[in-house]
Amino acid sequence: MRDEPRRVVQHGYDDVAESYLADRPTDGADVAVLRDLMARLAPDARVLDAGCGAGVPVTRLLTEAGPNIIGLDFSAGQLSLARARVPDADLVQGDLAALPFRPQQFDAVVSFYAIIHVPRRDHPAIFNECHRILRPGGLALLCLGTNDLPEDHDPTSWLGTPMYWSHYDAATNLELLDHAHLDVVADHRVPDPMGHRGHLFALAIRR
Ligand SMILES: C[S@@+](CC[C@H](N)C(=O)[O-])C[C@H]1O[C@@H](n2cnc3c(N)ncnc32)[C@H](O)[C@@H]1O
Repeated sequence: MRDEPRRVVQHGYDDVAESYLADRPTDGADVAVLRDLMARLAPDARVLDAGCGAGVPVTRLLTEAGPNIIGLDFSAGQLSLARARVPDADLVQGDLAALPFRPQQFDAVVSFYAIIHVPRRDHPAIFNECHRILRPGGLALLCLGTNDLPEDHDPTSWLGTPMYWSHYDAATNLELLDHAHLDVVADHRVPDPMGHRGHLFALAIRR
């Protein structure tokens, strides 16, 4: 990832961690998609929540179902909230595009509303990282864009802090997942829990 968008997003979430958490619904259609994934996992599945934020609701639901849950985020502010709210998860500071884990260590990876904050030229690298850390047959549940958005630099309206978004349209995302050897078995259009444009949630099996 190039430095400027990364800095904007990382500092942005440090700044708005509390207000994002206060506004984040915990029972929307995205949670239903997560529960679908969880129903496919063994109780001792090792699961990564990539871009976990404050860990609510996604990391927390995962830890309620099993003991081997890892959350990763690059915002220290978000991780600090997550530590208090999801004490049973292992929490790691790191970047989606360079996951600090050995190959084939996970049964599943989920990523909610995080990849859309990374410049889209780096999305193939993120998909490759998901493939690398998953065991063969492991599952990826990834929240991606539905429309073509090369870059959006928003100076103020995201909870009052500068923010950055970038993503491909749904068809391109599905193609890129296939190129990364992630076989899509379900794709859902899910409304944004905070009232923004909807998202593509792709469930894929690692080849
Ligand atoms: C909109 S929040 C979503 C948090 C949580 N997944 C949820 O569902 O509420 C996006 C999170 O992704 C993290 N993030 C964005 N880009 C990242 C990157 N390149 N590496 C690690 N974390 C990143 C941000 O710090 C932020 O905590």
